[in-house]
Amino acid sequence: MVELWAQKEFRNLTQCVKSGIPSIKPIRVLKNVLILEFVGNNGVPAKTLVETEIDENDYRNAISIISQMYKKAKLVHADFSEYNIFKTEDGLIVFDLGSAVDIRHKNAKEFLERDIKNMSRFFVKRGLTVENPSDILERIIN
Ligand SMILES: Nc1ncnc2c1ncn2[C@@H]1O[C@H](COP(=O)(O)OP(=O)(O)OP(=O)(O)O)[C@@H](O)[C@H]1O
Ligand SMILES: [Mg+2]
Repeated sequence: MVELWAQKEFRNLTQCVKSGIPSIKPIRVLKNVLILEFVGNNGVPAKTLVETEIDENDYRNAISIISQMYKKAKLVHADFSEYNIFKTEDGLIVFDLGSAVDIRHKNAKEFLERDIKNMSRFFVKRGLTVENPSDILERIIN
């Protein structure tokens, strides 16, 4: 099961990279081990969104990643949150794609809605004004 999970995450990341989405680059799968490009400096992982100061731009870019994943990679992250995005000098980088599903998955719309709401909740908690999640959802799927 764990091997299948690692293969799934590898496939999802490959799909994202191929579609031009800013995500961690996968290298290979060895049994149950997923090897990824290291994101960070001198062995210290980059900071995740939750560990940094955020602004309007981060909100726009986070929503844009959700939208690009859906439209270009045909994937819904399904665990999209401030803990699964790095904020680097080169912008946001999404990771932790083990739970991501194809947009044809029967729960894809529900997962997408949850991803948008989770992200919105985080930015609201940090004092930003966000767009109505339902409007974002409609814009992405239509
Ligand atoms: N490619 C990478 N480069 C640098 N650090 C990484 C990388 N992948 C993961 N990490 C570090 O490991 C942490 C957890 O990664 P990830 O969310 O993929 O694992 P997880 O097993 O799903 O853990 P969690 O249950 O916390 O979500 C990240 O926040 C980051 O600090
Ligand atoms: Mg995680």
